[in-house]
Amino acid sequence: MWIARSKTELQKNLDSLPRPIVLVPTMGALHLGHAALIDLARKHAGTEGSVLVSIFVNPIQFDKPADLENYPRTEDEDLETCKTHGVDGVFLPEIGEMYSKDRSIMVTENQLSQDLCGATRSGHFDGVCTVVLKLFNLTQCDAAVFGEKDFQQLAVIQRMVRDLDLHIQIIPHPTLRVADGLAMSSRNRRLTLEQRADAPRIRKALLAASQKSSAAEIISTAREIIETSPLTTIDYLKLVNAENLQPTDQITSTCILACAVFYGDVRLIDHIKIPYC
Ligand code: PAF
Repeated sequence: MWIARSKTELQKNLDSLPRPIVLVPTMGALHLGHAALIDLARKHAGTEGSVLVSIFVNPIQFDKPADLENYPRTEDEDLETCKTHGVDGVFLPEIGEMYSKDRSIMVTENQLSQDLCGATRSGHFDGVCTVVLKLFNLTQCDAAVFGEKDFQQLAVIQRMVRDLDLHIQIIPHPTLRVADGLAMSSRNRRLTLEQRADAPRIRKALLAASQKSSAAEIISTAREIIETSPLTTIDYLKLVNAENLQPTDQITSTCILACAVFYGDVRLIDHIKIPYC
């Protein structure tokens, strides 16, 4: 497995890399969820093709400097995970390698990114789109894998691929869950035992709500189950159109019920598809 820390080193390695090239973009701190994305990338690349992982904590997608500073950096363990999962090459650039001091061009998205997680994270999805486009260009990948857990991010990237005519296949990976239903996240580790025991209620709430037929009932059912716990604070709980992610109060097409819930200062997200039938 090669490691490229500069664009020049990456380019040298790419010259002899068999296609298809499937990229898994990450910010490091790899966990079981990332390992599953890497395994799916290998399935698509086949034994003949190549799997690349990028590890880059992208400063322009953080709206709070403290979050950027506190973001976990676990390079040695990350490289070990990549090796164990048969990754061919890792791109691990420094900030200066990715962004010129006087950079002045960004990708902006102004529909799908406005609500849900985007509502309180100004500029976040523009930062994600910009770095992902750069990683697509730099790695010259044919396909890239993204988790469905961050469904707003996935939708924004799919829209970027469509609107900018990128010739890259986006491969979604279904949300991975612990046996009790809680969506896997590196943040789960920060929950206290009591919070962790309570957190599967988020999934239970979404499942119960998805059995209801009206938008109002869907929202009220989920809200009641989540708010019954004294440990939770809802950041948002919204029903949105699955295509444009705009809030809706009627189920006239497939929708997504999405939420972000605080346990103390740990913010967990989850969602469920509400089919239109
Ligand atoms: O999901 C992530 O880890 C990041 O947003 C991504 C896609 C690697 C871009 O920095």
